[in-house]
Amino acid sequence: MKTKTLLLLTILANTAMASDMNATEALKIKQEGIKYIKMLGGALKTELKAHMKADKTGLSAAGFCASKATSLTEEVNKKLPKYAKVRRTALKLRNNSTNPADDLDKKIMNEYVAAIEAKTFTPKDIKEVTIGDTTRVYKPLITTPICLKCHGSSVSPEIKKLIKEVYPNDKAMHFKEGELRGVIVAEIKKH
Ligand code: HEC
Repeated sequence: MKTKTLLLLTILANTAMASDMNATEALKIKQEGIKYIKMLGGALKTELKAHMKADKTGLSAAGFCASKATSLTEEVNKKLPKYAKVRRTALKLRNNSTNPADDLDKKIMNEYVAAIEAKTFTPKDIKEVTIGDTTRVYKPLITTPICLKCHGSSVSPEIKKLIKEVYPNDKAMHFKEGELRGVIVAEIKKH
């Protein structure tokens, strides 16, 4: 009887330790993912701001995004460890060839949209999901007035023309402030 109780207690203690370890591991992966998300988000934001400052119409910034967003994303990815990657995607896509969303991306983004509608959303809601040997970390991107220059309803004719030329299937117009524009996703493989 005594040995049985002891055994049970040992098992319980081990399980508790294992779930503590899992929680610590999960937090570590989340923090690592956030670091990569900030690398990509920061790099894009720095360029966007500099171009917007130099040309207030936003045309130069739109040209930058259209011609350099993909290569800048590749550059950031080259700096990451082999087991990691970072990308952007959206439900309403502008660049559907480089930034497609898979089913899990869509599920997570729909959850954000539902939270925004229910007014329970907070931009700090970073989601962490593990599928197979990969953990994904999602950060929501909410439209601010600056985004609307190229994603809103009163985009200038010059920017509109440029966007139509580069992205004939563009679905990323007519956003309002405070909507989910998309997500940045970091993917971290077990290593
Ligand atoms: C100066 C124009 C411009 C502004 C301002 C702008 N974007 Fe974009 N955005 C673009 C272009 C062009 C693309 C397509 C880039 C590419 O080929 O990856 C894009 C793509 C994206 C994507 C990738 C998903 C997709 O649809 O292909 C996200 C997410 C995004 N923008 C979010 C934002 C957010 C959030 C803001 C405001 C902070 C913003 N954008 C401001 C022009 C702009």
